[in-house]
Amino acid sequence: MIDMFSLLRRRSPHTLEHLRAEHAADCARLHALYFSHPWSVNEFESLIASANVHGAAALDGAGKVLGFVLVRLAADEAEILTIAVDKSARKQGIGRELLENQAESLRRNRVRKLFLEVDEDNAAARKLYGKFGFTQAGMRPGYYRTASGKPANALILSCDLG
Ligand SMILES: CC(C)(COP(=O)(O)OP(=O)(O)OC[C@H]1O[C@@H](n2cnc3c(N)ncnc32)[C@H](O)[C@@H]1OP(=O)(O)O)[C@@H](O)C(=O)NCCC(=O)NCCS
Repeated sequence: MIDMFSLLRRRSPHTLEHLRAEHAADCARLHALYFSHPWSVNEFESLIASANVHGAAALDGAGKVLGFVLVRLAADEAEILTIAVDKSARKQGIGRELLENQAESLRRNRVRKLFLEVDEDNAAARKLYGKFGFTQAGMRPGYYRTASGKPANALILSCDLG
Protein backbone atom coordinates (compact mmCIF):
# COMPACT_ATOMS: atom_id res chain seq x y z
CA MET A 1 0.00 0.00 0.00
CA ILE A 2 1.25 3.50 -0.85
CA ASP A 3 2.33 5.52 2.20
CA MET A 4 0.65 8.89 1.47
CA PHE A 5 2.68 10.66 4.16
CA SER A 6 6.00 9.66 2.65
CA LEU A 7 4.72 10.76 -0.78
CA LEU A 8 3.80 14.16 0.65
CA ARG A 9 7.15 14.48 2.44
CA ARG A 10 9.00 14.01 -0.85
CA ARG A 11 7.38 17.08 -2.42
CA SER A 12 9.29 20.37 -2.30
CA PRO A 13 7.25 22.94 -0.38
CA HIS A 14 7.20 26.12 -2.43
CA THR A 15 5.41 29.37 -3.15
CA LEU A 16 4.97 31.18 -6.45
CA GLU A 17 6.01 34.83 -6.82
CA HIS A 18 6.55 37.39 -9.56
CA LEU A 19 10.07 37.12 -10.91
CA ARG A 20 12.21 39.97 -9.57
CA ALA A 21 15.78 41.24 -10.11
CA GLU A 22 16.93 39.49 -6.92
CA HIS A 23 16.07 36.13 -8.56
CA ALA A 24 18.32 36.75 -11.59
CA ALA A 25 21.39 34.96 -10.20
CA ASP A 26 19.40 31.82 -9.31
CA CYS A 27 17.74 31.87 -12.75
CA ALA A 28 21.12 32.16 -14.51
CA ARG A 29 22.48 29.29 -12.38
CA LEU A 30 19.56 26.98 -13.24
CA HIS A 31 19.55 28.04 -16.89
CA ALA A 32 23.28 27.26 -17.23
CA LEU A 33 22.68 23.76 -15.84
CA TYR A 34 19.99 22.80 -18.34
CA PHE A 35 20.63 24.79 -21.55
CA SER A 36 23.64 24.61 -23.85
CA HIS A 37 23.70 28.41 -24.41
CA PRO A 38 23.54 29.91 -20.91
CA TRP A 39 22.23 33.44 -20.28
CA SER A 40 24.16 35.70 -17.91
CA VAL A 41 22.86 37.23 -14.69
CA ASN A 42 22.86 40.61 -16.52
CA GLU A 43 20.75 39.19 -19.31
CA PHE A 44 18.24 37.88 -16.77
CA GLU A 45 18.21 41.22 -14.96
CA SER A 46 17.46 43.15 -18.12
CA LEU A 47 14.78 40.68 -19.24
CA ILE A 48 13.11 40.87 -15.82
CA ALA A 49 13.21 44.68 -16.02
CA SER A 50 11.58 44.74 -19.50
CA ALA A 51 8.03 46.05 -19.51
CA ASN A 52 6.90 43.40 -22.03
CA VAL A 53 8.48 40.47 -20.19
CA HIS A 54 6.58 38.71 -17.39
CA GLY A 55 7.81 35.91 -15.18
CA ALA A 56 7.19 33.78 -12.14
CA ALA A 57 9.46 31.90 -9.75
CA ALA A 58 8.76 28.92 -7.48
CA LEU A 59 10.66 29.55 -4.25
CA ASP A 60 11.56 27.16 -1.45
CA GLY A 61 11.21 28.13 2.23
CA ALA A 62 14.60 29.91 2.18
CA GLY A 63 13.70 31.99 -0.90
CA LYS A 64 15.85 29.92 -3.28
CA VAL A 65 14.49 29.59 -6.82
CA LEU A 66 13.33 26.00 -7.52
CA GLY A 67 11.95 26.91 -10.92
CA PHE A 68 11.08 29.87 -13.07
CA VAL A 69 9.43 30.91 -16.32
CA LEU A 70 9.86 34.00 -18.50
CA VAL A 71 7.29 35.10 -21.08
CA ARG A 72 7.45 37.93 -23.65
CA LEU A 73 4.24 39.71 -24.69
CA ALA A 74 3.61 41.24 -28.12
CA ALA A 75 0.09 42.66 -28.60
CA ASP A 76 -2.38 39.78 -28.12
CA GLU A 77 0.27 37.05 -28.41
CA ALA A 78 3.06 35.90 -26.14
CA GLU A 79 6.05 33.61 -26.26
CA ILE A 80 7.65 31.50 -23.52
CA LEU A 81 11.30 32.56 -23.55
CA THR A 82 12.46 29.92 -21.11
CA ILE A 83 11.28 27.65 -18.31
CA ALA A 84 13.32 25.46 -15.97
CA VAL A 85 12.82 23.52 -12.76
CA ASP A 86 15.67 22.36 -10.52
CA LYS A 87 16.34 18.65 -11.03
CA SER A 88 15.64 17.94 -7.33
CA ALA A 89 12.15 19.45 -7.61
CA ARG A 90 10.94 18.00 -10.92
CA LYS A 91 7.84 15.92 -11.60
CA GLN A 92 6.02 17.52 -8.69
CA GLY A 93 3.85 19.84 -10.77
CA ILE A 94 6.03 22.96 -10.47
CA GLY A 95 6.49 23.35 -14.24
CA ARG A 96 2.73 23.08 -14.75
CA GLU A 97 2.05 25.57 -11.91
CA LEU A 98 4.44 28.08 -13.47
CA LEU A 99 2.67 27.73 -16.84
CA GLU A 100 -0.77 28.05 -15.25
CA ASN A 101 0.34 31.14 -13.33
CA GLN A 102 1.55 32.83 -16.52
CA ALA A 103 -1.46 31.74 -18.58
CA GLU A 104 -3.75 33.33 -15.97
CA SER A 105 -1.75 36.56 -15.98
CA LEU A 106 -1.68 36.62 -19.82
CA ARG A 107 -5.47 36.18 -19.98
CA ARG A 108 -5.83 39.20 -17.69
CA ASN A 109 -3.65 41.09 -20.20
CA ARG A 110 -5.99 39.97 -23.03
CA VAL A 111 -3.36 37.73 -24.60
CA ARG A 112 -5.09 35.09 -26.74
CA LYS A 113 -2.27 32.84 -27.93
CA LEU A 114 0.92 31.53 -26.35
CA PHE A 115 3.85 30.20 -28.43
CA LEU A 116 7.11 28.44 -27.64
CA GLU A 117 9.91 26.52 -29.27
CA VAL A 118 11.08 23.17 -27.95
CA ASP A 119 13.77 20.71 -28.97
CA GLU A 120 12.02 17.76 -30.65
CA ASP A 121 14.11 15.42 -28.43
CA ASN A 122 13.13 17.10 -25.13
CA ALA A 123 10.65 14.48 -23.94
CA ALA A 124 10.00 15.99 -20.48
CA ALA A 125 9.20 19.45 -21.84
CA ARG A 126 7.03 18.05 -24.64
CA LYS A 127 5.06 16.05 -22.08
CA LEU A 128 4.53 19.14 -19.92
CA TYR A 129 3.42 21.26 -22.89
CA GLY A 130 1.24 18.54 -24.42
CA LYS A 131 -0.62 18.02 -21.15
CA PHE A 132 -1.05 21.77 -20.84
CA GLY A 133 -2.79 21.94 -24.24
CA PHE A 134 -0.02 23.03 -26.60
CA THR A 135 -0.15 21.64 -30.13
CA GLN A 136 2.37 21.76 -32.95
CA ALA A 137 2.19 24.86 -35.15
CA GLY A 138 5.41 24.40 -37.10
CA MET A 139 8.98 23.16 -37.13
CA ARG A 140 12.45 24.63 -37.70
CA PRO A 141 14.66 21.81 -39.03
CA GLY A 142 18.15 21.72 -37.46
CA TYR A 143 17.47 24.91 -35.47
CA TYR A 144 19.31 23.77 -32.30
CA ARG A 145 22.84 22.43 -31.81
CA THR A 146 23.25 19.77 -29.14
CA ALA A 147 26.35 19.77 -26.88
CA SER A 148 27.93 17.26 -29.28
CA GLY A 149 27.32 19.65 -32.20
CA LYS A 150 24.53 17.52 -33.71
CA PRO A 151 21.64 19.55 -35.16
CA ALA A 152 18.19 19.09 -33.57
CA ASN A 153 14.78 20.19 -34.83
CA ALA A 154 12.83 22.88 -33.00
CA LEU A 155 9.08 22.34 -32.77
CA ILE A 156 6.95 25.49 -32.65
CA LEU A 157 4.00 24.88 -30.32
CA SER A 158 1.01 27.09 -29.65
CA CYS A 159 -1.81 27.14 -27.11
CA ASP A 160 -5.09 29.08 -27.28
CA LEU A 161 -5.65 30.89 -24.01
CA GLY A 162 -9.27 31.57 -24.94
C1 LIG B 1 10.48 20.59 -18.63
C2 LIG B 1 10.49 20.90 -17.13
C3 LIG B 1 10.38 22.42 -16.93
C4 LIG B 1 9.27 20.19 -16.49
O1 LIG B 1 9.18 20.64 -15.12
P1 LIG B 1 8.45 19.77 -14.00
O2 LIG B 1 8.23 20.63 -12.81
O3 LIG B 1 9.20 18.51 -13.79
O4 LIG B 1 7.05 19.44 -14.72
P2 LIG B 1 5.70 18.95 -13.98
O5 LIG B 1 6.04 18.20 -12.74
O6 LIG B 1 4.80 20.11 -13.83
O7 LIG B 1 5.14 17.93 -15.05
C5 LIG B 1 4.04 18.21 -15.91
C6 LIG B 1 3.65 16.92 -16.62
O8 LIG B 1 4.71 16.48 -17.45
C7 LIG B 1 5.13 15.18 -17.06
N1 LIG B 1 6.59 15.10 -17.07
C8 LIG B 1 7.46 16.01 -16.60
N2 LIG B 1 8.73 15.55 -16.75
C9 LIG B 1 8.61 14.32 -17.31
C10 LIG B 1 9.55 13.34 -17.70
N3 LIG B 1 10.87 13.51 -17.52
N4 LIG B 1 9.08 12.20 -18.27
C11 LIG B 1 7.77 12.01 -18.45
N5 LIG B 1 6.81 12.90 -18.09
C12 LIG B 1 7.25 14.04 -17.53
C13 LIG B 1 4.69 15.02 -15.64
O9 LIG B 1 4.51 13.69 -15.29
C14 LIG B 1 3.40 15.81 -15.61
O10 LIG B 1 2.34 15.01 -16.06
P3 LIG B 1 1.19 14.56 -14.98
O11 LIG B 1 0.48 15.84 -14.66
O12 LIG B 1 0.38 13.56 -15.71
O13 LIG B 1 1.94 14.00 -13.81
C15 LIG B 1 11.78 20.34 -16.46
O14 LIG B 1 11.94 18.99 -16.84
C16 LIG B 1 13.04 21.11 -16.81
O15 LIG B 1 13.38 22.10 -16.17
N6 LIG B 1 13.78 20.65 -17.84
C17 LIG B 1 15.05 21.33 -18.22
C18 LIG B 1 14.80 22.66 -18.89
C19 LIG B 1 13.90 22.49 -20.12
O16 LIG B 1 14.03 21.56 -20.89
N7 LIG B 1 12.99 23.47 -20.32
C20 LIG B 1 12.08 23.49 -21.42
C21 LIG B 1 12.74 24.12 -22.62
S1 LIG B 1 11.58 24.32 -23.99
